[in-house]
Amino acid sequence: FWYHQGFWFQSEYASFSLEAVMASQDDFHAQPTDVFLATYPKSGTTWLKALAFAITNRTKFSYGPTHPLATTCPHDCVPYIESEAYINNPSYANGLLATHIPYTSLPKSIISSGSRIVYICRDPKDVFISFWHFKKKYIDDSSTDPIMLEKAFECFSKGVFEFGSSWDHVIGYRKASLEWPDKILFLNYEEMKRDAKNEVKKLANFIGHPFTEEEEAKGEVEEIIKLCSFDKLSKASKDRDATPNVISNDIFFRKGVVGDSVNHLTDEMIQILDKITTEKYEGLDIPIYNNDKFVVF
Ligand code: A3P
Repeated sequence: FWYHQGFWFQSEYASFSLEAVMASQDDFHAQPTDVFLATYPKSGTTWLKALAFAITNRTKFSYGPTHPLATTCPHDCVPYIESEAYINNPSYANGLLATHIPYTSLPKSIISSGSRIVYICRDPKDVFISFWHFKKKYIDDSSTDPIMLEKAFECFSKGVFEFGSSWDHVIGYRKASLEWPDKILFLNYEEMKRDAKNEVKKLANFIGHPFTEEEEAKGEVEEIIKLCSFDKLSKASKDRDATPNVISNDIFFRKGVVGDSVNHLTDEMIQILDKITTEKYEGLDIPIYNNDKFVVF
């Protein structure tokens, strides 16, 4: 791991590297019309990419089996600006871009150009468990040795993880969204699961593609939610290898539920993570779904 501007980065993580992050900081030039989907990994990036792509391109494609999201992975539709693939071939940008870079380290032009950012956060316990499973699959380790979980837990709690502390990542974007609400939309994975219709409409409004009354009456919002559902996307991604990513697509889909972390963490681990969350998020008005209810920190 390397420490860079307050966050930890792995020298080589999937198709990302600290070098690539630094290259994008130097060379990426945002357009005012660009929309950035920003996340800490495992917070719902794939889902957000799919929704934003489906909303933005809804007049171009019908919702049948030929829709790009039915034939490719959302990661093929919306590239990460800091991935090696994008840096080597930035031409496939279409105004929708993604990033895991912390707010304070974003390429300066993203802020100065006035482009919009959509951020999605998720209960850190579920983020951690999702990440742990992902890493095990990614590094192809079938071991379920609990020490591995404990080691990863210790690193995650200390913020020594890919893209740094998940809490600090959220805080950077949350503070910015409170200051510039018309530039940064702050969403929540659990709220999207609870009331997808409302959240998808919010997202569409923010990215400049609001649904007309007629579209709503035709059930367009529901069509998009269905197209981007866990079941549909995971089926479409199965057996398809990502082109811009070195990671196989299907490992972005595991369970897609809220609260699975309780099946993996001990009571003590839950208490530790909840305590960090309570302390870190205090006063930031961040709703986190906890023990079957929303808690606002
Ligand atoms: P789990 O591991 O808890 O199942 P990211 O896309 O940021 O990498 O996050 C991956 C997490 O989002 C995984 O969580 C994955 O299953 C879940 N996910 C992927 N697609 C989803 C969808 N369409 N709806 C809900 N959750 C989804």
